[in-house]
Amino acid sequence: MPDLYAVFGNPIAHSKSPAIHASFAASTSQDMVYEARLAPLDGFAPAIAEFVAAGGKGANVTVPFKEDAFRLATRLSDRAARAGAVNTLAFADGEVFGDNTDGAGLVRDITLNLGYSLNGRRILLLGAGGASRGVIAPLLAEKPAALFIANRSAEKAVKLAEDFSDIAPVNGGSFADLAGKSFDLLINATSASLAGASLPLPPGLFAPGALAYDMMYGKGETPFLLQAREQGAARGADGLGMLVEQAAEAFFVWRAVRPQTAPVLADLRAKLAG
Ligand code: ATR
Repeated sequence: MPDLYAVFGNPIAHSKSPAIHASFAASTSQDMVYEARLAPLDGFAPAIAEFVAAGGKGANVTVPFKEDAFRLATRLSDRAARAGAVNTLAFADGEVFGDNTDGAGLVRDITLNLGYSLNGRRILLLGAGGASRGVIAPLLAEKPAALFIANRSAEKAVKLAEDFSDIAPVNGGSFADLAGKSFDLLINATSASLAGASLPLPPGLFAPGALAYDMMYGKGETPFLLQAREQGAARGADGLGMLVEQAAEAFFVWRAVRPQTAPVLADLRAKLAG
């Protein structure tokens, strides 16, 4: 019997995770299957319990269950504890281990795939929700020169910055507070584009050579990357690489094997464009 894994979400039908993990399993010769499971909105814990009883070895967790998974875990990695959310579960010996690979996925995409070192950079993180919280500690571990969190509701950004200020200086504020500042890397962790809204970014925000990174992705240039290019970003990248890298990091947690990500990313990119 191959080892059983699944991604849990609601909705889940369009998840790319089963295809990504099937590619990883094939390329590393791991005897495993990876399925997509729809959990009821109020029934995440029972769905996981049923999966574990059926022999499930590990799970990925996506919207809207990452906080449920955090609460369900009986042991947490440091990065999951910091994120307050779990996207990777591993089940062994009656224990539910919770990890969060989103931030590592982002950092690996930026540093390895894009070849952009974070050390000494001035970073602007846009948004103060769960997506933002999940990546802050891994970003700080790369020793940037500064990290500023800007959010529509400024008080959420200030609070979030305070939560991480024991690691390194982090500041938070409103979009208006960005006036007169410039950054080397701007990361969009807001969901503004889902509502068709653009962000009120003041002019002059992009330093020469700046990289704009959108944690969202889609067919063609995302609304944030279009806006960033128009406002002077030298480079842009969407979140497809982060998706693949967070999956590879989860695969490593479960199997202790690091799959090649480049072919999988190229394949997803081609499908998205087609
Ligand atoms: P996620 O888990 O994806 O981070 P979330 O916790 O709902 O989702 O957070 C969404 C983020 O997008 C928040 O930072 C939100 O700003 P507020 O805290 O002010 O709500 C941001 N966001 C959503 N719509 C936005 C918009 N139209 N303009 C600017 N920011 C927006």
